[in-house]
Amino acid sequence: MTVEIAAELFPSSATSGPHGITVGGVALAELASRYGTPLVVYDEAHLRQRCCDARSAFPDGVSYAAKAFLCKAIARLVHEEGLGLDVASGGELAVAVAAGLPGSAITMHGNNKSDREITLALRHRVGRIVIDSHEELTRVEADAAVLGLRVPVAIRVNPGVQAATHPSIRTGGVESKFGVSIVSGAAQSLARLAQVSRSVDLHGVHVHIGSQLTGMGPSDDAIASAAAFALMHGAEELIVGGGLGVPYRVGDHAPTFRDWSSAAGAAAERGGFTGRILAEPGRSIVAAAGIAVYSIGTVKEAGVGTRFVAVDGGISDNPRPALYGARYHAELVAPVDDSAPMDEMRYTVVGKNCESSDVFAEDVVFHRSPRAGDLLAIPVAGAYGYAMASNYNGLGRPAVVFVADGQERLVLRREDESDMSRLDVA
Ligand SMILES: Cc1ncc(COP(=O)(O)O)c(C=O)c1O
Repeated sequence: MTVEIAAELFPSSATSGPHGITVGGVALAELASRYGTPLVVYDEAHLRQRCCDARSAFPDGVSYAAKAFLCKAIARLVHEEGLGLDVASGGELAVAVAAGLPGSAITMHGNNKSDREITLALRHRVGRIVIDSHEELTRVEADAAVLGLRVPVAIRVNPGVQAATHPSIRTGGVESKFGVSIVSGAAQSLARLAQVSRSVDLHGVHVHIGSQLTGMGPSDDAIASAAAFALMHGAEELIVGGGLGVPYRVGDHAPTFRDWSSAAGAAAERGGFTGRILAEPGRSIVAAAGIAVYSIGTVKEAGVGTRFVAVDGGISDNPRPALYGARYHAELVAPVDDSAPMDEMRYTVVGKNCESSDVFAEDVVFHRSPRAGDLLAIPVAGAYGYAMASNYNGLGRPAVVFVADGQERLVLRREDESDMSRLDVA
């Protein structure tokens, strides 16, 4: 008998068999014994396929939003697949540069860029700076004048449209800190300044109203509004941001890249825009390529009948459950033992952090009773997990490996106890 995995949540290379769950031709159990747990495993073929799918849906250009998961290996991979890279800070820019990406492939974002970040972006000749305020335009112009450059920019507009997603990942309503308001007229005055500037060239209008969007409605309205704005100000590019949602659990649905590009194209047309339409997906490129592998340490029953399975990571390596109540699917990595009885019980998968929000999955049914020492796989763990990880409770960030064609390569080493005091200087 083999383990029935929820195939739709795993990369297409995932199989289950006598060695348990295998991804990219490598058994997760083998990876766990070689690199330890917690471990994040990315299927390289899946990453590359998502890049191709995004590019064919948005032929005018796609930039990967590095905030979803960044290291040198992913920066190189997306670049090899013909995508640009969006960065949101000097730190992300430094990783992109260290990975060898040319400045022209990089777009610099951020709602509060420091002078240093602006200077770094200009020195590296980034392809676009996305301007987020009047004040920022002035600072970019000043720096450009010193360096004798004309800087290619886009303006991030806030169309005042609220995305249908968790409030913590909405970025487009009138109350949002992101972008410059079309509703108040601030965006129009900023665009006029950029149009007559001697130091910047206004190429694009950017709009991004939120993440994990599983329907298109509000984002269509936002794109139509940004499109009309781009037309009015002579911008030849409309950057429709990211936001495409992904299914996290069995039964979840999300639009495809094609659904997104068709809806974006129609919305842009509604706004009268006929220029280039570019996208900058993050989650939808990396989420389903990544599987988090943990070791179970404790299985216990709480007073109210809840059975807890506690793993050796938690919100310190993936804070999404604590930030906005995210929940995942979970599977035992090991194959079903024919001699073991099926387990009909429901389990709650928790981590080892000292917070009650440290919950990965609820109502989980396993193929057999989970035991201490078992490995547990959490699929769709590739976005905004490692990227937002911390050392809370003195826990080290996991190692990250890429797998392809039966081979693995370590791309980020694990942090251990010795890393916990490496910043201490006294
Ligand atoms: C400006 C911008 N672009 C792209 C993205 C990527 O979004 P997602 O990961 O939902 O595709 C984000 C995420 O917040 C963003 O702020």
